[in-house]
Amino acid sequence: MAIKQTKRARAQSIGDVFSEVGRAPRHKMPNDEMDPEVAYQIVHDELMLDGNARLNLATFVGTWMEPQAQRLMAETFDKNMINKDEYPQTAEMEMRCVDMISRLWHAPEPDDAPGCSTTGSSEAAMLGGLAMKRIWQDRRRAEGKPTDKPNIVFGINVQVCWEKFARYWDVEPREVPMEGPRFHIDPEQAAALCDENTIGVIGILGSTYDGSYEPIEKLCQALDALQAKTGLNIPVHVDAASGGFVAPFLEPNLKWDFALDRVVSINASGHKYGLVAPGVGWIIWRDEEHLPEELIFKVNYLGDIMPTFALNFSRPGAQVVAQYYNFVRLGFEGYRKIQQYARDVAQDLAAEIEKLGPFELVTRGTDLPVFAFKVRDDITNFNVFDVSNAVRERGWQVPAYTFPANRQDLAVLRVVVKRGFTHDVASLFINDLRRQLPRLQRQATVIHDADNGSGFRH
Ligand SMILES: Cc1ncc(COP(=O)(O)O)c(C=O)c1O
Repeated sequence: MAIKQTKRARAQSIGDVFSEVGRAPRHKMPNDEMDPEVAYQIVHDELMLDGNARLNLATFVGTWMEPQAQRLMAETFDKNMINKDEYPQTAEMEMRCVDMISRLWHAPEPDDAPGCSTTGSSEAAMLGGLAMKRIWQDRRRAEGKPTDKPNIVFGINVQVCWEKFARYWDVEPREVPMEGPRFHIDPEQAAALCDENTIGVIGILGSTYDGSYEPIEKLCQALDALQAKTGLNIPVHVDAASGGFVAPFLEPNLKWDFALDRVVSINASGHKYGLVAPGVGWIIWRDEEHLPEELIFKVNYLGDIMPTFALNFSRPGAQVVAQYYNFVRLGFEGYRKIQQYARDVAQDLAAEIEKLGPFELVTRGTDLPVFAFKVRDDITNFNVFDVSNAVRERGWQVPAYTFPANRQDLAVLRVVVKRGFTHDVASLFINDLRRQLPRLQRQATVIHDADNGSGFRH
């Protein structure tokens, strides 16, 4: 008996979904439906042109998770973080993460330190900055003083999220420039930029430009001295986007967190060294006193009222579940082992690059598992942008960029070592870099610059 086959069954029976693929609609929604297998193949195939995330040495964001974490994320992709009433256990896991992180960062009363998950460090930075601004405004109003000229002080090496904060919320940014071999904030210069309109100072652990930790303890001491001299009491927010999940495990004696009285809030990216796939950040305040009540909204939670502070409303819950999985699965010792391994790889790779000859290390991966290197000054026929382009031919994404004031003369390449970037993969990278050198050394003149290279900018 002849059986009439559908178009889809026919395509499958000859094992060739491709023969069904016409031209993919690009800019105008098509009128008619399409077979899901065919639609899948179209979208899947186009994504082949994206870079391979594991070869991306530019990003700080996690590019690998355990299969069990992936399974949990697939099981929870439909959970909306804001529906605390509908997903009370996801909300509970978020609060447990906040408690664990508060302990990790030495909050004086870790069970009472307010905090929440966010979409990343950028949203967390907005919340931290807003809280400082509101506290400053409230104090000024109470003193009968004007509130129209707030400013915020940071090193010029801040990630763009702080420039965004300043611009979006009308706060004047005051930047400490780089100088000589100092590629991040100078505590005394930061204190000198403060006045009665300063809502706070940002310390960075560690810097996006070169992976170095800013001297947060010295920054607090400089502000202590300022207070002793002038009476100005300036709070510090620590942007620990990467270092918040590195320093507690590798430098337990480094003072950078709530152990310093002047630190009022800290953010970190769960999706960086928190080891979760993109989409989660954290912010914790020292105590309730540093999170103004009027910024908190109340949502219904199991018939109860749950406080929230966020820029978004709906937001995926899978990343929070994955963060909790990581904490439970790895524990302190697991995180320590992974971060130590990453730093060993970073330092070994930095040393190998130094041995190649044409390069000079700017940092060595001794703080974050991140280092920056430059082309030696006496080499004039190729530059960092040429190097970035050359390794891109084999799929490696290594950013090249110039530093900001007062080191615009310095152009570097940067490598971020993350979970999954093993000694073995590092040796593949160094081999590829070594293979490209003769060609680079033969070229008559530099070819690329910041505008036409494959380099990436902050
Ligand atoms: C120091 C610092 N702060 C903030 C951010 C922004 O983080 P996110 O991508 O989680 O928003 C980054 C990202 O690289 C960073 O390095």
